[in-house]
Amino acid sequence: MDRDFWQARWEANQIGFHQSEINPYLRDHWPSLQAPQGGQVFVPLCGKSLDMCWLASQGYALLGVEFVAQAVTEFFAEQQLTPRQRTQGQFAAWSAENITLLCGDFFALTPDDLKQVAAVYDRASLVALPPALRQRYVSHLRTVLPTGAPILLVTLEYPAGQMEGPPFSVSEAEVRDLYAATHEIARVHSEDVLSDSPQFQAKGLTRLVENVYVLRPRS
Ligand SMILES: C[S@@+](CC[C@H](N)C(=O)[O-])C[C@H]1O[C@@H](n2cnc3c(N)ncnc32)[C@H](O)[C@@H]1O
Repeated sequence: MDRDFWQARWEANQIGFHQSEINPYLRDHWPSLQAPQGGQVFVPLCGKSLDMCWLASQGYALLGVEFVAQAVTEFFAEQQLTPRQRTQGQFAAWSAENITLLCGDFFALTPDDLKQVAAVYDRASLVALPPALRQRYVSHLRTVLPTGAPILLVTLEYPAGQMEGPPFSVSEAEVRDLYAATHEIARVHSEDVLSDSPQFQAKGLTRLVENVYVLRPRS
């Protein structure tokens, strides 16, 4: 899943992952993270997610990273915001109001880029990556995040071999494998959404579970 793959998806408007409504798990479970009011929330692999608007409306500053420029420009255009642009290290940083999107590769982020981050929202990001990249993603996230930032993580799980990702199936065992050394892990919600997902029924899935986790750094 390299940049060309995602660039082609955006160019062809094959962005079934993009939701036209605010994610209900975000509304329901964000408060339990107790992220400090006014703090900065990091959204890795952010696309043009409307969830960033909801978080901003709750008084947070938003920092997203996304390497397809089309996603970044569409986000600001659709929100009728006129962003300022500057260069930040290897990134083009686009900002309007309390939202900054870094256009560039997640794996190029440095601790300095994320030094203000108080909490993380990962929906359709970990599951966008194939297994080897997921390891690298979590390891990089751990390296660049300030200590103490909790994570709200939304994953998908379906029977092995029924579909080629993305999205990839990520089990609770894998979440524990990836995060247990550094985080307390609580699965706070689990729901089979297959009956509401005709596009996944058409791919032959027999089960599609969304899991929501709160990950708190161990002190
Ligand atoms: C499945 S989409 C999810 C977007 C968003 N989280 C949402 O909920 O709508 C994954 C996004 O990550 C971007 N992406 C994938 N790998 C990336 C990387 N290494 N650095 C930055 N963005 C990346 C893709 O371009 C795509 O827009």
